[in-house]
Amino acid sequence: MSEPRKILVTSALPYANGSIHLGHMVEYIQTDMWVRFQKHRGNQCTYVCADDAHGSAIMLRAEKEGITPEQLIANVQVEHSTDFADFLVEFDNFHSTHSQENRELSSQIYLKLRDAGHISQRSVTQYFDPDKQMFLADRFIKGTCPKCAAEDQYGDNCEKCGATYAPTELKNPKSAISGATPVLRDSQHFFFKLPDFQDMLKAWTRSGTLQDAVANKLAEWLDSGLQEWDISRDAPYFGFEIPGEPGKYFYVWLDAPIGYMASFKNLCARRPELDFDAYWSKDSTAELYHFIGKDIINFHALFWPAMLEGAGYRKPTAVNVHGYLTVNGQKMSKSRGTFVKARTYLDHLSPEYLRYYYASKLGRGVDDMDLNLDDFVQKVNSDLVGKVVNIASRCAGFIHKGNAGVLVAENAAPELTDAFLAAAPSIAEAYEARDFARAMREIMALADRANAFIADKAPWALAKQEGKQDEVQAVCALGVNLFRQLVIFLKPVLPKLAADAEAFLNVAPLTWDDHKTLLANHTLNPFQALMSRIDPVKVQAMVDASREDLEASQAPAAPAGNGELSKDPLSPEIEFDAFAAVDLRVALIVKAEHVEGADKLLRLTLDIGDQQRNVFSGIKSAYPNPAELEGRLTMMIANLKPRKMRFGMSEGMVMAAGPGGEEIYLLSPDSGAKPGQRIK
Ligand code: MSP
Ligand code: ZN
Repeated sequence: MSEPRKILVTSALPYANGSIHLGHMVEYIQTDMWVRFQKHRGNQCTYVCADDAHGSAIMLRAEKEGITPEQLIANVQVEHSTDFADFLVEFDNFHSTHSQENRELSSQIYLKLRDAGHISQRSVTQYFDPDKQMFLADRFIKGTCPKCAAEDQYGDNCEKCGATYAPTELKNPKSAISGATPVLRDSQHFFFKLPDFQDMLKAWTRSGTLQDAVANKLAEWLDSGLQEWDISRDAPYFGFEIPGEPGKYFYVWLDAPIGYMASFKNLCARRPELDFDAYWSKDSTAELYHFIGKDIINFHALFWPAMLEGAGYRKPTAVNVHGYLTVNGQKMSKSRGTFVKARTYLDHLSPEYLRYYYASKLGRGVDDMDLNLDDFVQKVNSDLVGKVVNIASRCAGFIHKGNAGVLVAENAAPELTDAFLAAAPSIAEAYEARDFARAMREIMALADRANAFIADKAPWALAKQEGKQDEVQAVCALGVNLFRQLVIFLKPVLPKLAADAEAFLNVAPLTWDDHKTLLANHTLNPFQALMSRIDPVKVQAMVDASREDLEASQAPAAPAGNGELSKDPLSPEIEFDAFAAVDLRVALIVKAEHVEGADKLLRLTLDIGDQQRNVFSGIKSAYPNPAELEGRLTMMIANLKPRKMRFGMSEGMVMAAGPGGEEIYLLSPDSGAKPGQRIK
């Protein structure tokens, strides 16, 4: 027997300013399945994570809620931990980046980098909010787009025309926090000299540590030359003060990955078999894996290995990158009810359904992954309930009735048990390579063979015949044994099903190697239903509740500070004449189509009774499938002065509510209204 491997595994640290949703779960479920597989195989595998608790977003949210950042992150940590536990994601430790261990490690790593000459400093000019007395990150500045003059655009890019720019190019800039006009101010910043590590990174990113697609993407950066990385932020900031630099704080992304080490260190204090240095020192023989989404590659595959190298630690064995989740083929959407929080899912459905569905779709690549809700119901019901659990439920009754629950020793089909045994190495290889989809396919192919065997022998028919009782027992004992094998193979994905099956089988917790043996002359416990079919009504209820979530958070009665609607103050009063001058009409959307070259616009053909109008409307983010608007009534301003746009003339405006993005709600009249009728 070879020595068990020592493996340390992490998932990205979720931000402590929001709830976990099904997109996040792509990462935590896949990491958990991989970790469980390693443990199942007898390796010493440790899975750590933490909340990412620092940064100005967290500081500002706490302020809005009238609590301290410490209170906010403590509340969120409870929420996150419960969500993960209920999805059967089993961390060895779930810590926080706002911890003593992280403070010490971050300071220590910074000082090592500084003493080795990898830190520089220089003055940076940035927008400063004179009311709030703080520097403003790009996303906290709003103003008029310098390219297309759209108002209310963020400091680094325009949602209307897609232009990117520096915040100083915005016209009429305003602080999104206080509304004040920001002023330019200089401040000393600290930089990590990433270019010092250019050669190391070129070699490291090509040494089998990354998927090819990821290494190729990074090569573009590496070839065009790396920039120094700004690692400091000015007070007020929620984070760690930089040693020796009062009023300067580590940028959240500096101490976030160090949070992996800190969480592990915190765990070492209560697990004597774990030694911090054995995992992190330069000569460590332990393996270290980070699972992350494709949006945070540069932090994990450039900055992080460079920091580790510069501070004298080992580098990751591999960084495993996954794509983003889409639901029903589209970006998760609040208005469609497909932006589903972990808790909302759990209120309606069992976690193992989603674990299996994700497993069945996750490969080694970085492609986005779709959760198609119809396919989800169909696949889980047909595979898990129809194929796997069904084997046990078909066989158990005959064994209890005919043989007092004892499995006979006879093997009714050695070729079948041989096939299961022979398939195991390939399934293990697929798990090891994180090709969960292949592992699931191979396991289900075995389940098909087991079901075909039982259907062919038809114990329910044999049981009615004279003298066939021994055969019934042999067939059913084999059925139960094959079910046990499938459970062993599926255990990393379905830990609860496995635990329930172990209770029914009356066995100790199953390990991977148990697949090499069969149960014989062994007494079963009574069979209890192991898993029920997904009722599509529950999926619909989850979608509806996700829409409700949104309505609740937007209701005007919601406490100020979290109600999105309360952001729009009332406009000044107008005279009746001003209102009467607006020609509002009921309009029929005859045609709705994408506009080539425009990210945000739809072209609408509107029928207002005696004429048709061409209107461009920035509602594409909420209606990515414009055909569904066709035939629907809405309201338009019919006497708005036509406006020439890049794509043609826009002859009016349709009326919609909501803050923007996916949350745009086109207004409609009650049924009975006719196109062209004036709205008074
Ligand atoms: N706090 C940082 C990570 C710091 S790691 C030292 C962060 N947090 S996050 O909450 O935004 O995301 C956590 C993880 O979830 C990331 O790996 C991210 O890619 C992943 N996902 C977040 N939304 C996702 C989807 N919609 N789909 C798939 N994964 C997604 O980034
Ligand atoms: Zn613009």
